[in-house]
Amino acid sequence: MLKIAVERTTAPKPKPEDQTKLGFGGIFTDHMFLMDYNAGEGWHDPRIVPFGPLPLSPAAMCLHYGQEVFEGMKAYACPDGSVRLFRPDENMKRLNLSCDRLCIPPIDEAFAVEAVKELVRLDAGWVPTAEGTSLYIRPFIFAADAQLGVHPAKHLIFCIILCPVGAYFPEGLNPVKIYVEQEYVRAVRGGMGYTKTAGNYAASLKAQEKANAAGYSQVLWLDGLEHKYIEEVGAMNVFFALGDSVVTPALQGSILGGITRKSCVALLQSWGVPVEERPLALAELLEGTRSGQLKEAFGSGTAAVISPIGALRCGEENIAINGGNIGALSQRLYDALTGIQWGRSPDPFGWTVAV
Ligand code: PLP
Ligand code: COI
Repeated sequence: MLKIAVERTTAPKPKPEDQTKLGFGGIFTDHMFLMDYNAGEGWHDPRIVPFGPLPLSPAAMCLHYGQEVFEGMKAYACPDGSVRLFRPDENMKRLNLSCDRLCIPPIDEAFAVEAVKELVRLDAGWVPTAEGTSLYIRPFIFAADAQLGVHPAKHLIFCIILCPVGAYFPEGLNPVKIYVEQEYVRAVRGGMGYTKTAGNYAASLKAQEKANAAGYSQVLWLDGLEHKYIEEVGAMNVFFALGDSVVTPALQGSILGGITRKSCVALLQSWGVPVEERPLALAELLEGTRSGQLKEAFGSGTAAVISPIGALRCGEENIAINGGNIGALSQRLYDALTGIQWGRSPDPFGWTVAV
C-alpha cells in the first residue's frame, strides 16, 4: 500500500466552543488528504497537509463540465474512547460506482479507507462528543485539467476534508415537512441519479428553493419519466410504513443506493418486519393516507440519520402523517442505528470499524 506523507499544521485552529450548537458543514478541521491522478502515472503522491485552498486553473474541467464525484460518511466518538467509522467500505465501493459513471479512474477502495482512518486519527481531537454530533467526512474527486473541450480528464485530484457536525436538519429528530415536486425532476434512469455527483445536487436547487419558499424543508422527487412514482428526498432515501410492511422505492438507476437505507432494510428484516423494495406510486401513498394504511414515513441518510416525515405537501393538499409526530418504528430505527454508530449497543452486523 502507498505511504501517506504527513505535513502537520503549525497553526492549529480553535475548536468549536459549544458542541451543542454545531450545525452542518461550515467548520473544517486542521488537515486534509490529497492525492493526484495523471494518465500514465495513475493515482500517486498521497499526502495529508494543512487544510487550505487548492491551486486550480480557471480552466479546470470540473468547473466547466462537472466531472466530480463525492461521498459522505461519519466518524463517531464512542463511550470506550474509540473513534469509529460506519461501513466505510460501502462508501468507497459507491465512490467507485460513481467514478465509473463519470469516467473517473477508480481508486483503491481499501487504500481510501486507510486514508480516511489516518486523516481522522490525526484530527481526532476534532471528533465532537456531545449528544447527536459526529465528524462528517467528505471524500471527493474532481477533474483538474486546464482544458476547455468535453472529454474525460487526464488529471484528477482526490481530496478528503472533515467537518464536526450536529444535526443536518434544524428540526433534529422532530418530523420534517416535505414538498412533493411535480414539475422539476432530479434524475432519470440512464442518467446519473444513482451516483453521488455534483450535478445531481445542482439539478435539485430550484425545486429546493420552491419548497423552502412554501415552508417545506425538503423536496420529495418523483420519477423523471411519468412523474408518478416516489424516488427519494434531497439528501435521503425514503421509507413508508404502509399496512403491515415497510415500503421503500426500488433502486432502478435514478436514486442513490443509500448506505443508511441498506442498513435500515437489514435492521427491519432482522426484527421480522416485512420490507418491500419496489416501485411505489404517489397515488398508492395518497390512498394510504386516506385509508389509514400509511402509518409512518421517514428518510434515511448519513447526514440526516433517520428523519421522520410529519407532513407532505402534494399539489394543494397538505397531508399530516402520524399526526405530525415521530412514529414508533422511526424511533426504534433511530435508536438501533445510532446505538450501533455511537458504540452504545453491540454491533451484531460488524458495521463499525475503529480508526
Ligand atoms: N439520497 C441522496 C440524494 C443523498 O445525497 C444521500 C446522502 O448521501 C442519500 C440518499 C442517503 O445515502 P447514505 O445513506 O449513503 O448517506
Ligand atoms: C450525506 O448524507 O452524506 C449527504 O450527502 C447529504 C448532503 C448532500 C449534505
